[in-house]
Amino acid sequence: MSEPIVPVEDFATDWDFNDPAWVEDPYPIWNELRGRCPMAHTDRFNEGVWLPLTHQAVSDIANDTDTFSNVHHGIRRGGTTDRGYFPPINNDPPEHLPIRRAILPFFNPKQVEQWRAKILEDCEQRVQVIADRGRGDAAVEYAQHIPVGAIATILGIDPDDGDQFRRWIRDIISVGADDAEVMQRAVGEVRRYMAREMAARRADPGTDLISHLVTTEIDGRPLDDDLIERILVLQLVAGIDTTWSSIGAALWHLATHPDDRRRLVAEPELQPTAIEEFLRAYAPVNVTRRVTRAVSVHGVEMAAGDHVMMTFPVACRDPEVFDAADEVIIDRAQNRHVAFGVGIHRCLGSNLARLEMELAIATFLNRIPEFELAPDSQVEWSTGQIRGPRAIPIVVG
Ligand code: HEM
Repeated sequence: MSEPIVPVEDFATDWDFNDPAWVEDPYPIWNELRGRCPMAHTDRFNEGVWLPLTHQAVSDIANDTDTFSNVHHGIRRGGTTDRGYFPPINNDPPEHLPIRRAILPFFNPKQVEQWRAKILEDCEQRVQVIADRGRGDAAVEYAQHIPVGAIATILGIDPDDGDQFRRWIRDIISVGADDAEVMQRAVGEVRRYMAREMAARRADPGTDLISHLVTTEIDGRPLDDDLIERILVLQLVAGIDTTWSSIGAALWHLATHPDDRRRLVAEPELQPTAIEEFLRAYAPVNVTRRVTRAVSVHGVEMAAGDHVMMTFPVACRDPEVFDAADEVIIDRAQNRHVAFGVGIHRCLGSNLARLEMELAIATFLNRIPEFELAPDSQVEWSTGQIRGPRAIPIVVG
C-alpha cells in the first residue's frame, strides 16, 4: 500500500508530483519555481532528485548521455527501486543505437500509415457509443482505448486482451512506482505473455512487430529471447498511458474551451498545428536520469548517484522559448516543443502517437462537434511521471 502524501510546503526544496496542488494544476507552481531557483530538488525519492526548470537545461542534460545515464531503474518514494531493464530506454551508448535501429523501421511515417484504417475504425465505433447515449467519459470510454487497439495491431496480438494490458500498465507504472513487488509480478506476466506470442510467430510468422523481432539480427546475430521480451514490455508500456494522456488532455481542452473547439471544427486544416500545441501545452511524460559523476550544471552542483527528472512538460512551458507559454494557441506557428524528448532517446513512437491523436481528435469532433464537461462532474488527473486526465465526464451539446 502506498503511504499518504505529506503535503508540500515548499516545492523548491521538496517537490512532489503527487501533491494534490501539483496534480490539479502544476503550471503556476512551475512559474513560481522559475523565478526562484535554477532547479528544484526533493529528497522524497531515491537519494534526491533534481528538477530542471528550463528548456535549455532539459535539452543540455538529455544530450549529455555520459553524465546523465538511462541505465537505472527509475525513482521511488523513500529509496531506489529495481524497475528492471527495458531496452532501448534503459541503454546508454554504444548499446542503445543497435537496439533502437532494430525497432525503428516499424515506426517510420510510411509504416504507421498502414494502421490508419484500423485505428480510424476503432475511433468511429467508440465515439458512436458516446454520441448515441448523449453523454459519456471521453477518457475512460474513448481516449484510453485508442492506443491499446493500435499497439495490439502493431504487435499482432488480440485487442480483446486490452483490459489485461491496462491492468499490467497500471501495476507497472502507477501502483508499481511505490510497490516493487506488484510491478515485478506484472512485468513477469507480460514477459510470459510475450514469450507465448514469440513462439507462435516463429511457428507462423506474420507482418507484425513480434514477427519482425524474432527474425531480425544485430551484427549478424539474432536477438535473444530475453532481449526481445524486454523490448516488448517497453513497447506495451511506452505507447499506452502516454498517448491516452495526450488524446485525453486535448479532448479535455476542447470540452473546456468552446472557442478553440468551434474553430477546429470550422477549420480542420488547423489540425496539425493544434495537435503540436496540445502536445506542447499538455506534454505528459517525465523520465529520469542517473548522474554518473560530480558535475556543475546550470548553476547546480550534482553528485554522482543523484537523479534528475527530465521535465519535458516544464520545458514545453518555458516562457524564454514560447511566447504566451501558458496559452494554448491552436495555430501557433513556431513550436519547438520537446514533448517527445530530446536526443538519442527521443520518442520512437512519435509518428504513431501523432497519427493516433489526429484520428482520435478528428473523429471525435466529426461525430460530436458540440460537447462540454458534465455539470457537477469531476475531472481526474493522474499522479506520477505521466500526466493526463483519467476521467472526463462530458455531455453532448
Ligand atoms: C503522445 C504520446 C507519447 C509521448 C508524449 C511520448 C514521449 C516520450 C518521451 C518524452 C520519450 C523520451 C524518453 C527519454 O528521454 O528517456 C519517449 C521515448 C520512447 N517512446 Fe514515446 N511517447 C509517446 C508515445 C509513444 C508510442 C505510441 C510508442 C510506441 C508504441 C512509444 C515508444 C517509445 C519508446 C520505445 C521510447 C524509447 C526510445 C529510446 O530509448 O530510444 N512512445 N517517449
